[in-house]
Amino acid sequence: MTVRNLFLLPGDGIGPEAMAEVRKIITYMNAEMAGGFTTDEGLVGGCAYDAHGAAISDADMAKAMAADAVLFGAVGGPKWDDVPYEVRPEAGLLRLRKDMELFANLRPAICYPALSDASSLKPELVEGLDILIVRELTGGVYFGEPKEIIDLGNGQKRGIDTQVYDTYEIERIAGVAFELARTRGNRVCSMEKRNVMKSGVLWNQVVTATHKAKYSDVALDHMLADAGGMQLVRAPKQFDVIVTDNLFGDMLSDVAAMLTGSLGMLPSASLGSPDAKTGKRKALYEPVHGSAPDIAGKGIANPIAMIASFAMCLRYSFNLVKEADTLEKAIANVLDKGVRTGDIMADGARQVGTVEMGDTILAEFKALSA
Ligand code: IPM
Ligand code: MG
Repeated sequence: MTVRNLFLLPGDGIGPEAMAEVRKIITYMNAEMAGGFTTDEGLVGGCAYDAHGAAISDADMAKAMAADAVLFGAVGGPKWDDVPYEVRPEAGLLRLRKDMELFANLRPAICYPALSDASSLKPELVEGLDILIVRELTGGVYFGEPKEIIDLGNGQKRGIDTQVYDTYEIERIAGVAFELARTRGNRVCSMEKRNVMKSGVLWNQVVTATHKAKYSDVALDHMLADAGGMQLVRAPKQFDVIVTDNLFGDMLSDVAAMLTGSLGMLPSASLGSPDAKTGKRKALYEPVHGSAPDIAGKGIANPIAMIASFAMCLRYSFNLVKEADTLEKAIANVLDKGVRTGDIMADGARQVGTVEMGDTILAEFKALSA
């Protein structure tokens, strides 16, 4: 039997609550569908800091590197506001991304028909929305050096971050965007700030050259990232695949998430390059929402983004396409039936907590798989 090693990092805040709902699906798939998943679990973020004084231990990092896929919950919270910058909860996530070389972050924003009312935009603007943000994840201002605060000695300090991109980094993320576009609407919009940033000029040139060399069958547009943000809320359905850098991708994907009704709906996949021998990619799957400390531990968090992240894991890491489709269909059906967590609550719907939402999706998944 195929063995599929999953490493679970629930993290902080609502992370563990959301992960518990995925664990039920894994248990079901192992028992009834010969899922073949083995799971191990570690600590990341504030909980790892409390246990080891680091945002992720070397031992857990090694397990993440060895796993077929990592499922990640969320990190951070006010409890760790004052810990040193190097060991802040987010450092654990950034180390995972960097050390596993997860350069391609896929953030699909799909508006489920039942949720078009939950968006802050008019329903007709978001109904049927299906866009994919491809965010570069291991470069840019997140990791560029120097990155420091220096004392200028005159009572002033200077904060420095460095935005830096090399050709190969832009080429490989553009390649991912073009390849994925071919499986969808065949259109890519590249976003940068070439009017202000040298890295934006290079980004634009390399995306254009990559397109010309290998992907001229795909339609390519360029947009300045600020205009792109505006277009995302003006007429989001004009987009198919958006490819952008680490920082713009962080911001634009939060905007895209709200189009779908709630930050609690958006899953993501972070992928590395295929291994030269096995063709396997290192991969980490995480909901786009954060740890939401304000609602943590109350049992009211929306587990859908975490469950949908697991669906992406089935699809991209294990090629279990039918199972992924079924799980996504189960989520859509449950929403159609008017079952809602508080963040996506609507008139006439039935409000449930995290556990009941997870149970309802699992029951629907079972029914659809039978
Ligand atoms: C995200 C988050 C992270 C980021 C934080 C938690 C470091 O906002 O995944 O979008 O900025 O990339
Ligand atoms: Mg973000």
